[in-house]
Amino acid sequence: MPASSAPKSFPKTFSVKSFGCQMNVYDGERMAELLGAQGMTAVSGGEDADLVVLNTCHIRERATEKVYSDIGRLRREDGTAPLIAVAGCVAQAEGEEIMARAPSVKVVVGPQSYHHLPDMVARAAAGGRATETDMPAQAKFAALPKRRKSGPSAFLTVQEGCDKFCTYCVVPYTRGAEISRPFNDLVEEARLLVAGGAREITLLGQNVNAWTSEDDKGRTIGLDGLIRALAADPDLSRIRYTTSHPNDMTEGLIAAHGEIDKLMPFLHLPVQAGSDRVLAAMNRSHTVSSYLSLLDRIRAVRPDIAISGDFIVGFPGETPSEFNETVKLVEAVGYAQAFSFKYSPRPGTPAATMADHVPAVEMDERLQRLQAALQRSSLAFNQASIGRRCTVLVERRGKLPGQWLGKSPWLQSVHFIGDFAIGDLVDVELIEAGPNSLSGRVLQTPVE
Ligand code: SAH
Ligand code: SF4
Ligand code: F3S
Repeated sequence: MPASSAPKSFPKTFSVKSFGCQMNVYDGERMAELLGAQGMTAVSGGEDADLVVLNTCHIRERATEKVYSDIGRLRREDGTAPLIAVAGCVAQAEGEEIMARAPSVKVVVGPQSYHHLPDMVARAAAGGRATETDMPAQAKFAALPKRRKSGPSAFLTVQEGCDKFCTYCVVPYTRGAEISRPFNDLVEEARLLVAGGAREITLLGQNVNAWTSEDDKGRTIGLDGLIRALAADPDLSRIRYTTSHPNDMTEGLIAAHGEIDKLMPFLHLPVQAGSDRVLAAMNRSHTVSSYLSLLDRIRAVRPDIAISGDFIVGFPGETPSEFNETVKLVEAVGYAQAFSFKYSPRPGTPAATMADHVPAVEMDERLQRLQAALQRSSLAFNQASIGRRCTVLVERRGKLPGQWLGKSPWLQSVHFIGDFAIGDLVDVELIEAGPNSLSGRVLQTPVE
């Protein structure tokens, strides 16, 4: 290791860069709060900070190479480098290898151990190196500082881990078994977020709808019970949750969509593929028809609900006609938005050693066709919203003078002109639609 890359003293400034899912974003915010509580100051540009935390994602290919190239890019022109900590799911999966291959990395910390980050940074600043990738997580939340500030839309992790073991996925290995955070802790954290400025809270979990706990009266409740309790706070206007597994959509949670006004009409419900044979090979444990009848039941109580999904094209053995079934499913559901990915073999997962991997060119072609279908679907959804009157939560300024950007109840990006502030709830009529955003006209009289 070149002496020039060794930290000279305890870092005074830091930067946390998060990749991957919203739970990683939440973890990144908590790490920033932990470091802030040590008296360190956050700076935005990575290479200028004394400490850089790369909060990584392992879900698809080239995740590890990306980390190594990010590490390389942190080296400054004078040959020095910040103190580098690798956190997140790549740290969990490949921490030892990173330590061996990248001498400039001084700290490797998994998603369930980051409450130890300040101690580990202290050891690194003293010239050592530190690795922690222990599971499970409960101790972590108790050790984090109390939340103080929040933007208008906040994330709150309520559940972690996954027991589903879809055959393509690394999450059960990087995040461990499903655990639910206790009810009282969540009510308290939500209260602090609202006091700190949050108007909307998105409850997060890899399988958020598997959340369960005892409430303050000792009754066992599910996610609908938690949503109901949080909705009682008069200063909280909106509640969302993500990501849900179709098999964990309980009757209570479905009913909640028809009963709780603050629960926004949006549901991210990944299906992955439109062929029952592929779904079985993926170990999804639902079928196309069970997914569609679930959507029917949800739409029966909340007809305007926006459905979002995740899709994988080119799972091993997927034939052209099986892929066509995915396109048909997209057309049948009418997705408001979606994420779609080429299948990526992940080391250690059962699908990685399955036969009949789909050639890369074929995979590209399928992804393009699927994305065109999804684009048509979101455009149709947005166009059907024209004329709707709704409330938009202002999240940031737009590019034009006087322009603001916010989210509709259906999680559409809406821009409009007026004299507002971040965090305002503004009543608009939706007047124009593209596939990714809409424009709104501000109403002088409130909706409803
Ligand atoms: N728990 C969530 C999210 C998991 S990761 C769920 O079950 O839906 C987010 C998305 O990444 C998945 O929904 C899936 O579409 C995609 N994904 C996961 N592993 C993948 C892989 N090996 N190759 C391509 N996409 C993958
Ligand atoms: Fe991965 Fe499946 Fe679990 Fe989602 S449900 S995190 S895709 S194993
Ligand atoms: Fe990525 Fe880990 Fe989230 S692998 S998608 S950061 S759970």
